[in-house]
Amino acid sequence: METLIPTINRLQEVFQTVGTEIVQLPQIVVVGTQSSGKSSVLESLVGRDFLPRGSGIVTRRPLVLQLVNVAPQQERLKNEHGVKAEEWGTFLHSKNQIFTDFLEIRKEIEAETERTSGDNKGITCEPIYLKIFSPKVLNLTLVDLPGIIKVPVGDQPENIEAQVQEMILSFISNPNSLILAVSPANSDLATSDALKLAREVDPDGRRTLLVVSKLDLMDAGTDALEVLLGRVIPVRLGIIGVVNRSQHDINTQKSLEDSIKDEHVFLQRHYPSLVSRAGSRYLAKTLSKLLMHHIRDCLPELKTRVTVLIAQYQARLNSYGQPVEDHSATLLQIVTKFATDYCNTIEGTARHIQTSELCGGARICY
Ligand code: GDP
Ligand code: NA
Ligand code: MG
Repeated sequence: METLIPTINRLQEVFQTVGTEIVQLPQIVVVGTQSSGKSSVLESLVGRDFLPRGSGIVTRRPLVLQLVNVAPQQERLKNEHGVKAEEWGTFLHSKNQIFTDFLEIRKEIEAETERTSGDNKGITCEPIYLKIFSPKVLNLTLVDLPGIIKVPVGDQPENIEAQVQEMILSFISNPNSLILAVSPANSDLATSDALKLAREVDPDGRRTLLVVSKLDLMDAGTDALEVLLGRVIPVRLGIIGVVNRSQHDINTQKSLEDSIKDEHVFLQRHYPSLVSRAGSRYLAKTLSKLLMHHIRDCLPELKTRVTVLIAQYQARLNSYGQPVEDHSATLLQIVTKFATDYCNTIEGTARHIQTSELCGGARICY
């Protein structure tokens, strides 16, 4: 089963290299209002500090983040990149540069954002592509998006709300996207913009998971138990409460590890009945399993598309005749071989997933 997601990740990369998105691939997209904790949630999923976070508008370009678990193939990847580090990152816009320092990754995201969006709160729709290789991550593709905005500031145009909304919709309307709607516990769930947008593209809630952030910031004497149990607004795929680092924690450079420990202590104290079904770790596990099931549902369609592709590429390859020193031909060969392997993987994986058990605890309806 674990072979499926790296396969899809690689396929996506090949298609990006070709310059078209030929197959729509499953990915997890984070949606929510500004400062609801989207980037913090993603960071805890990755297990490393590297995303720009903070109050106000920090995320100003979509970030497509591919997590690659290197444990089984570590040596190969290390050699390929000539890197000795345990974890490292690469950007599509500067492929040959290997980032082993995660603070440098954050700086590069900020610098690349400024290159296209300026330094005065402007927003760009064109994504930044980042890959993180690590033995500590699950194989997931995640998209961090700018938050839903109501009032323009800085260089933002008057219609910023509509623009950002359109950008978010363009990512989440992809039926192969799992939507991670992030809503802070200290604001009313009924008015959640994240859920509202998710509903627009996923009215049946078949691919929306609700993350309730900032459990620690609720008013004294209140808690989110009813919300987390789905009694306020039910969410078919599940509702998972988390505690991320506060701004003070960020300022004092609290480690993610300590944050996850403290989150666990917090949950034990305030939500003992939900400890095994809440928190950042549980969210990561749930997402991974949801993705598997989502992929399973998409397999027949994907397989049809890839089969058509193989035929098209094979025809074009044949028209090249004898092997020539032609880069486009080489690329086509790679894609064709890859697509063939991919179909074989799908066959095997489809059988495997049929028999795999559902995620314990989360209410999954696939
Ligand atoms: P984004 O704009 O949705 O990406 O939100 P960020 O992840 O950048 O977080 C916005 C601010 O909220 C930052 O100052 C975070 O430290 C803070 N924050 C996020 N999640 C939590 C949480 O669960 N608890 C607390 N206390 N603060 C949080
Ligand atoms: Na923010
Ligand atoms: Mg953000």
